[in-house]
Amino acid sequence: MRLDKFISDTGTASRKECARAARSGLILVDGIAVRDPSVHIDENHAKVTFCGNPVQWSRFTYVMLYKPSGVISTTEDTPRSVMRLLPPEFSKKGMFPCGRLDIDTVGLLLITNDGPLAHRMLAPKHHVEKTYAYMCAPPVEEEQIRQLENGIDMNGYFTKPAHVEAESGERGRITVTEGKYHQIKRMFAAVGSEIVFLKREKFGPLMLDPTLAEGEWRFLADAEICALTSLQK
Ligand code: URA
Repeated sequence: MRLDKFISDTGTASRKECARAARSGLILVDGIAVRDPSVHIDENHAKVTFCGNPVQWSRFTYVMLYKPSGVISTTEDTPRSVMRLLPPEFSKKGMFPCGRLDIDTVGLLLITNDGPLAHRMLAPKHHVEKTYAYMCAPPVEEEQIRQLENGIDMNGYFTKPAHVEAESGERGRITVTEGKYHQIKRMFAAVGSEIVFLKREKFGPLMLDPTLAEGEWRFLADAEICALTSLQK
């Protein structure tokens, strides 16, 4: 694999930054400065440092996106696809949104090319928690919150227990461990209210980075990747 691809795949630096750093002798491969970023290295064995910091290569790439409203959680190459918010190389290397948020739902979306991890995050048997901040109208009363928490009959399917932290009748946070189609909207509809705003703030061990603005993304940090990959197999 090319040295600059090896480094840029990890999110350490762009290929342009690699070229600059390499020229300045700041990229070492097995302890030796490599000034040509196009050289090929053995990604499984080479010890690479970038400006003195070790670069850990991973077969997979993980990105956190703050999904804005109006974009679709799909890999299809349509103008409204979430993938259009990310560099085109991500689609080329098979990255996809891990799960879906409705077009009008905002918040944390994990984009990766790690299929087995995505499967673990989404498989119902793993009960991965998802927390959403919501606003609803009309307001929900204590009895409706109790129903939301205990389980709702959605056309014959009973939702699993949920946790609601209500700030008021109109807003709060709800945590669920499943991801049925339009789940939160249907749960609120079943108790006679309507979701007017929905934002995913947590997905398993990941929390939406408060420094990201809507439409922005960043690579996951090593600790976040570790937390994901150590989820029960
Ligand atoms: N539940 C919904 O109703 N919509 C989403 O986008 C996510 C969860």
